[in-house]
Amino acid sequence: MSALAQLLYMASATLFVLGVRFLGSPASARSGNRLLAIGMLLALGTTVAFAPRYDHVAWVALVALVGGTIGVVSARRVRMTAMPQMVAVFNGLGGGSAALVAAGGWSGASGSAAWLALLTMLLGAVSFGGSIIAFLKLQEWLRVDMRLSLALRVLGLAVVAAAVAGAGLMGASGHGGVGAALGVMAAAAAGGALLTLPIGGADMPVVISLLNALTGLSAAATGFVLQNQLLIIAGTLVGASGTILTQQMSRAMHRSLINVIWGGQVAQGEALSADGTVQPITPDDTAMLLRYAKKVVVVPGYGLAVARAQLEVKQVIDLLQGFGVEVLFGIHPVAGRMPGHMNVLLAEADVSYDQLWEMDRINPRFRDTDVVLVVGANDVTNPAARTAVGSPLYGMPILNVDEARNVIVLKRSMGRGFAGVDNPLYVDAKTRMLFGDAKHSLGALVRELETAQ
Ligand code: TAP
Repeated sequence: MSALAQLLYMASATLFVLGVRFLGSPASARSGNRLLAIGMLLALGTTVAFAPRYDHVAWVALVALVGGTIGVVSARRVRMTAMPQMVAVFNGLGGGSAALVAAGGWSGASGSAAWLALLTMLLGAVSFGGSIIAFLKLQEWLRVDMRLSLALRVLGLAVVAAAVAGAGLMGASGHGGVGAALGVMAAAAAGGALLTLPIGGADMPVVISLLNALTGLSAAATGFVLQNQLLIIAGTLVGASGTILTQQMSRAMHRSLINVIWGGQVAQGEALSADGTVQPITPDDTAMLLRYAKKVVVVPGYGLAVARAQLEVKQVIDLLQGFGVEVLFGIHPVAGRMPGHMNVLLAEADVSYDQLWEMDRINPRFRDTDVVLVVGANDVTNPAARTAVGSPLYGMPILNVDEARNVIVLKRSMGRGFAGVDNPLYVDAKTRMLFGDAKHSLGALVRELETAQ
């Protein structure tokens, strides 16, 4: 490869590293995204411009056009609640492509490159099969009888083991053409699919992140096969960030990765009893309480995404700030159903980044908070996590909203959250429940606040 091409690849890699770095904060995330897009464009342009041969140019252009159009249209049209599905599909396609490229490179490779090609075929195909099932389950197009969990897992492991054995045979003998490569990839994809089938829909973001790490590793391995430094760097970045994200999500849910993958559903345990009197509140009383507060913290959760009420939240906080109330948001790392879910929703409504406080930063502030407005959040506020040994939530760090002077919870019913346990916060003497769809309740609050003096 020419020195210029190497230089351009290095520039792309630098943009990738900077882009990922910028994604670390909501304030710089948009710039990070742009840098990553420019880096990718540069990488693609360099690859095409310096290609050693120009076969099938029309086909390549057609495929790039169709793929690019599908990517742009789906990214623009996808709903925030459907984002995990889209990530699953794109991740699966990445894994599948890496596997196919490696299969193409396998026949001409020897020594360690041949073994790396086989490894890529395995990892990429597992990621492809798992991601497609993750998509179908998240989209609710596929349901699995949980009584089949164990059988599916055992079968999945056996099929993956067969794929590994097949790849091992190919590598050791140095034989095996397209048919053998396709057989190994098909088995690996089936194994990934079987292992993902019994995993609960709400655990999917963790699984997708893990599959994403696998895709990254397979892309990096393809880079070694093709001797392409950019692919090695980009794949390693994806692999490392996917691994870190998987670890962080499991830790924030207080679950081990093995429990997510092998446990099937959230462990059912003893919940802290939430017997007691529930005190409902009306929108006008809530508006009065908020309007005369000095400090309000809004705690958003999955219900905010379901209700798509981010614009109404923004209207409420604007009105409160107009009355001189200090308003902050308390963001739990696993609020919602995907990493950064709440940040993205609130950014959509132009909520200022400075107002979004992470759990560790906001927790010490609840003690001197007048009102906490919990909008469609449940598990991330459940005090049972601190005390109820045996509860599925036990040990999970939570937002200590019960330390505030007043808590108003916006939700439709006494229904449980993702972990499926009662929340004693709802019968706490300082808690009032504003029942209803969050969008309607917040809309009613806006109307009340607009007429308040
Ligand atoms: P949840 O505990 O799932 O609670 C959401 C609450 O929103 C429900 O209790 C529901 O009550 C309410 N709700 C639903 N639709 C609503 C609507 N239209 N209007 C008002 N309220 C509505 O959510 P959370 O507190 O955000 O916790 C997230 C959970 O997901 C955690 O257990 C976490 O471990 C898990 N999880 C998160 C992730 C990531 S990465 N974020 C990944 C996997 C799993 P009603 O039905 O009564 O309205």
